[in-house]
Amino acid sequence: MNTQLLFTLLAMSIGGVALAAEIKMDDQSQLTQKAEKGAGERYFQPPQEKDLPANAYGELVQQGRAIFVDTQKYAAEYVGNGMNCTNCHLDQGRKANSAPLWGAYPMYPAYRKKNDKVNSYAERVQGCFQFSMNGTPPAANSHVINALTAYSYWLSTGAPTGQELPGRAYPEVPQPQRGFDIAKGKQIYAEQCAVCHGDDGQGQKAGGGYVFPPLWGKDSFNWGAGMHRINTAAAFIKESMPLGKGGSLSDADAWHVAAYMNSHERPQDPRLIEGSVEKTRLKYHANDGVNLYGQQVDGVLLGQGVK
Ligand code: HEC
Ligand code: HEC
Repeated sequence: MNTQLLFTLLAMSIGGVALAAEIKMDDQSQLTQKAEKGAGERYFQPPQEKDLPANAYGELVQQGRAIFVDTQKYAAEYVGNGMNCTNCHLDQGRKANSAPLWGAYPMYPAYRKKNDKVNSYAERVQGCFQFSMNGTPPAANSHVINALTAYSYWLSTGAPTGQELPGRAYPEVPQPQRGFDIAKGKQIYAEQCAVCHGDDGQGQKAGGGYVFPPLWGKDSFNWGAGMHRINTAAAFIKESMPLGKGGSLSDADAWHVAAYMNSHERPQDPRLIEGSVEKTRLKYHANDGVNLYGQQVDGVLLGQGVK
């Protein structure tokens, strides 16, 4: 164990204040934004609903949009939690700086360290089904993947291929110099998030489905999802939360509340090795940004999973 990690663990077990290890951003297992938007320049503008052609292609695109927005209803058999794609890819996958589909589609096929191979677009979408949706990925040639691909392709109309567009990723937020503080995050959560996401991160339902998605627990994304990284969650939160007040949190507060959110249990990483959290941590989490999988917080081992 390196001394930094040891320090992190010690710090967490005493006061909930942690200096996280350095983020390894160069392994391509997570998105990093390189393209910047010039002053006065607009983000890429995807087409409008009314521009959709009234033909078989237009119909498939519509079906893809419906699956993306109400995954619970239109792709239920592949989903193992309470989430919809659009909960994290905001505004139906259109919003810049929220991993929009028009930022993604033209960048595949691409190598991903996460599974150590060149991924087709279909494989990338399957990844979000397996981890973010805690589900069973639909087959690459299934209707669900075809429709989601058609929707992504349509949103990318006019975008260059293989050239990263500004706004593709969740913009990185620098880590607080003195580390993240879970206790502070808890306070921010109570003041600014609980009203929608519930006192215990469980979200809120109306008419059977979630209107405010869960942030942890059995109906949330699993321990293998990109959002389980504190750096990725901080980036998403700083940009877009509290909903309607994106950009209002300080960088440090975005980290504190992201750390609080990700210091709770969620469904197990489906790549769990021989039932061992420690083996899984070493193989999949030790170099995956900043995360708490397999670490002790307040004397409790995280990464045990909930069903
Ligand atoms: C819990 C939040 C969450 C949900 C729900 C989710 N995703 Fe994602 N998705 C992410 C994150 C985070 C990333 C980027 C990960 C990273 O930083 O590498 C991502 C990346 C992607 C990418 C690649 C983006 C790129 O530019 O390369 C695609 C495509 C995608 N998701 C599609 C989907 C689809 C389709 C669904 C629904 C079936 C879905 N996602 C559900 C969080 C989510
Ligand atoms: C006004 C209600 C509201 C508030 C306040 C709010 N959120 Fe959200 N949040 C939402 C909604 C709604 C979504 C899903 C967006 C969508 O589907 O378009 C969401 C999505 C999310 C997601 C991604 C989906 C998931 O379940 O993981 C995270 C993470 C998140 N919020 C964190 C936070 C944090 C942290 C705060 C406090 C700083 C916060 N939110 C405050 C309404 C809210």
